[in-house]
Amino acid sequence: MTRLSTKHLLGIKDITVDDIELIFSTAENFKEVINRPIKKVPSLRDITIANLFFENSTRTKLSFELAEKRLSADVINFSASGSSVKKGETLIDTVNNILAMKVDMVVMRHANPGAALFLSKHVDAKIINAGDGAHEHPTQALLDAFSIREKLGSLKGKKVAIIGDILHSRVALSNILCMKKLGAEVMVCGPTTLMPKHISELGVEVEFDLRKALEWCDVANMLRIQLERQEIKYFPTLREYTMQYGLDKKLLDSLNKKILILHPGPINRGVEITSDVADSDQSIILEQVENGVAVRMAVLYLLAGRSEN
Ligand code: CP
Repeated sequence: MTRLSTKHLLGIKDITVDDIELIFSTAENFKEVINRPIKKVPSLRDITIANLFFENSTRTKLSFELAEKRLSADVINFSASGSSVKKGETLIDTVNNILAMKVDMVVMRHANPGAALFLSKHVDAKIINAGDGAHEHPTQALLDAFSIREKLGSLKGKKVAIIGDILHSRVALSNILCMKKLGAEVMVCGPTTLMPKHISELGVEVEFDLRKALEWCDVANMLRIQLERQEIKYFPTLREYTMQYGLDKKLLDSLNKKILILHPGPINRGVEITSDVADSDQSIILEQVENGVAVRMAVLYLLAGRSEN
């Protein structure tokens, strides 16, 4: 297979295992490219890509921009702050004005779940979802799975625990869907108040005890508490959250095995994870970031529909 089954990347829900394997094999090639002295290839010359960020981002925004530039695409960047969105312009009007400048692909982050799907139905460009509210963050899940696969060889039969604020996390849903498609067993762990009511219907184990989750898993993906999406109090204080669900070196070292530690970032050091865990040799947090560029290059390249490298 040399083509993806979808025109857009809206969510992991919409792509097949073959799509994921194709993205991974393409990303492996691009990872080799970006480690060469000359890191650029002409694959997306004459393709124009707009990065539309209606919500804050550091990693995803920079990673997509770098991936696009490594592929020689023309890139325009848009941030809602400082734009005419602040004067009341709608999403469709904003995007149609950008597309009138002859844009081929749109990478969009938006606070509303379904925003990328909505856009794909109303504009004539390929859409990549860079995070839509608490719904999906497909390229994050792809780079997480790619990074685990690189370390452990395969996801098949591996036990992945996703720990923290599951309720407000788009990373959690995309990770669950992606890891399960690749044959991993998935557990979610966090306070009852931050656990979606019907989460077990996704075929995941649910655990409320952090130590039990850590003893069960091969990989722990630590999520941050998304205070910006919380309109009510879900736990008494951050300190109490950390006491129950924070991962420190003492707890990590007390396990009778070495598990891999992932975190999508941004990290709240000292809340969900201490610095000595984040910076330990079991952490692959910066490898996730490095792999993110190669994985996004693969997604952009495959969606642009080019078969040559
Ligand atoms: N992982 C992630 O989405 O980080 P940013 O919010 O910085 O893009």
